[in-house]
Amino acid sequence: SGQCEYNLRSPICCIMGHVDTGKTKLLDCIRGTNVQEGEAGGITQQIGATYFPAENICERTKELKADANLKVPGLLVIDTPGHESFTNLRSRGSGLCDIAILVVDIMHGLERHTIESLNLLKMRNTNFIIALNKVDRLYGWKVCHNASIVKAMKQQSKDVQFEFRTRLTQVITEFKEQGINTELYYKNKDMGKGTFSIVPTSAISAEGIPDLLLLLVQWTAKTMSERLTYNNIVQCTVLEVKVVEGLGTTIDVILVNGVLHEGDQIVVCGMQGPIVTSIRALLTPFPMKELRVKGSYEHHKEIKASQGIKINAQGLEHAIAGTSLYIVGPDDDVEDIKEAAMKDMRSVMSRVDKCGEGVYVQASTLGSLEALLEFLKTPEVSIPVSGIGIGNVHKKDVMKASVMLEKKKEYATILAFDVRVTQEAQELADEVGVKIYTADIIYHLFDQFKAHIDNLKE
Ligand code: GTP
Ligand code: MG
Ligand code: NA
Repeated sequence: SGQCEYNLRSPICCIMGHVDTGKTKLLDCIRGTNVQEGEAGGITQQIGATYFPAENICERTKELKADANLKVPGLLVIDTPGHESFTNLRSRGSGLCDIAILVVDIMHGLERHTIESLNLLKMRNTNFIIALNKVDRLYGWKVCHNASIVKAMKQQSKDVQFEFRTRLTQVITEFKEQGINTELYYKNKDMGKGTFSIVPTSAISAEGIPDLLLLLVQWTAKTMSERLTYNNIVQCTVLEVKVVEGLGTTIDVILVNGVLHEGDQIVVCGMQGPIVTSIRALLTPFPMKELRVKGSYEHHKEIKASQGIKINAQGLEHAIAGTSLYIVGPDDDVEDIKEAAMKDMRSVMSRVDKCGEGVYVQASTLGSLEALLEFLKTPEVSIPVSGIGIGNVHKKDVMKASVMLEKKKEYATILAFDVRVTQEAQELADEVGVKIYTADIIYHLFDQFKAHIDNLKE
């Protein structure tokens, strides 16, 4: 296979864009699955990962009669949420990827989180392809299932073609306003030299899907062989910590490079310190199936990058999403690795003035905690912090926050982002007079805290 010939890992492609532009539906269309319809409220709230073997991609691009000679074993695609409260997950997804697809709804043009995603991609210098999705919603669209976009467009009436061109021009102008040059992919002579390609698609009737896939793999093969060269150094990120019936606590990870084996000793960052454990089971969903959706898993003795993997091991209950996973090799000193694993955590902790006065903040993951601390530090907000925690709010957190009752009463407050408050914690808080504010959108915490301060002043 291509894997042995070229020794390249599969590129990781992140799908980003504003809420409801069709990111998950596009993946469903390629996978032949129905993940989107199973989502609560039709909203993606977790990072997902799907592995597409090279054979499936070739099959899907046959229509274009191009040589989709893949030098990579496949493609690992990461789905991200477009909803506003998940900036943190978009950032994590974009941090992992080699290339991205930025999805834009042709009927809406650029929206708030299209621009946010664009800025994340610019910041990391990540190349991306724009999927101009929902072309089937152009009035009078004639369905040409799974056809290349050029072929599908030729089948359309003059009116449809006119509406398409008008909307396309509008989107190109909107990108220009963001400092980005774009062009229809088959007219783009400048790809990689500053002009980004647009592929019109429909996730419902699949026009443009062959084009999107072909462009993706040709582009990565052409420009990224160095970046994609496989190496043995394990690079692995924890996406989620989940309890799975019959397995106990598991972690979903993205293996970006290297290889993992059953039985490997691993170290991950934990809430109460480094967790040293060994891999009991290495599981993946079947090819073309979504990691975040419950289903059956394939067991592996070893897995080579790039892959989305579910790891079963003892003691993962307090693992923190968004941190790195380390392997303890035969020549490694486990103490050094424990130190490395906790580094992310330490750097966040060190930013908090522990002896000073301030509120207590609590968030679901290390990444979201960092985002919250950054936000509280901005001059317009400027709320001092005296303590932090990760995970749901428990009695012990209320106790810690209550220290401020004697120092500075208004700071006897917990700002809780994307976590739950246990009943005992709420009862204790009410009893001693600690205020707990919860929100799943960061800036709502500021509004609540400000109202609280204004209230105390009156
Ligand atoms: P979030 O993950 O919540 O940000 O949304 P998303 O970008 O993943 O969009 P999703 O796949 O949930 O699709 C949103 C809605 O748009 C659903 O009702 C889809 O059926 C619909 N939709 C997505 N793609 C298309 C398309 O190409 N054509 C049409 N007509 N509808 C689409
Ligand atoms: Mg989605
Ligand atoms: Na959605």
